[in-house]
Amino acid sequence: MSEGKRPLALVTGASSGIGAELARALAADGHDLILVARSEAALEALAAELRARHGAAATVLPADLARPGAAAELFARVGARQVDVLVNNAGFGDQGPFHAADPLRIDGMIAVNVAALTALTRLFLPGMVARRSGRVLNVASTAAFQPGPMMAVYCATKAYVLSLSLALGEELRGSGVGVTALCPGATETNFFRAAEIEDIALLNLPGMAAMSPAAVARAGYAALRRGRRLVVTGFNNRIGAVMGRILPYALVLPVARRVLASSGR
Ligand SMILES: NC(=O)c1ccc[n+]([C@@H]2O[C@H](COP(=O)([O-])OP(=O)(O)OC[C@H]3O[C@@H](n4cnc5c(N)ncnc54)[C@H](OP(=O)(O)O)[C@@H]3O)[C@@H](O)[C@H]2O)c1
Repeated sequence: MSEGKRPLALVTGASSGIGAELARALAADGHDLILVARSEAALEALAAELRARHGAAATVLPADLARPGAAAELFARVGARQVDVLVNNAGFGDQGPFHAADPLRIDGMIAVNVAALTALTRLFLPGMVARRSGRVLNVASTAAFQPGPMMAVYCATKAYVLSLSLALGEELRGSGVGVTALCPGATETNFFRAAEIEDIALLNLPGMAAMSPAAVARAGYAALRRGRRLVVTGFNNRIGAVMGRILPYALVLPVARRVLASSGR
């Protein structure tokens, strides 16, 4: 971290959960913040907290990242300010059979989880590459490691985030710019409420208790600082991620379906 000037981090989805905790971790470590989400009041409350507790300059930029062109508008609103750390955390899920899913919800998930993340990364990376300095943290999920029947689109969006992040990390090797994919398992946030998930077998599995968003953020921020390309939070989640990748689909898919469906199905 440079003496004097505080580095600037932009966090999407900072109004709650993992994003809010990542913003707290960044502010505690000397960053100024740009906080992005739709819930302006929650962002303002967090900004006030970060100013008071950490002396961070915190700017609130409310944005609906599902809207076409939202990423470019956000980039323009940031203007000449140099973003040193980009955290693409905003995202949401959905549960149930694909053929019955709300088409608008599918579009929204792809817009926020995939399109906005890709556009923001594309817009902010050139400055980082030119400066030979910068970090991108993309929040994927353990959902990225195997297809997810009953959460098919959500898991596919997170597989995209993981794939993109790992590929960019390799493209940028030696450039001074790092890309980290953070893959949390179940985490105690608004995620399940926002996804309208009332019941999911995943949360009832032995040894798979949801982690706190603060613990997930700590792991993600530590990985970003160390320049790691991938972090899966929690030992059991790491085992699950490896299994999802190496076992044959014939075994993985029925198990994934049972885990992602409601307990009774
Ligand atoms: N919780 C889990 O079990 C879990 C596990 C693995 C990965 N993840 C991932 O972690 C990330 C953060 O989720 P979370 O668990 O912290 O859940 P959360 O508390 O629901 O936070 C989601 C954040 O995304 C923002 N967001 C959603 N739609 C948006 C939109 N259209 N425009 C702008 N911002 C939007 C929300 O803000 P507003 O509603 O104010 O816009 C909120 O700040 C997501 O990418 C999620 O997929 C979560």
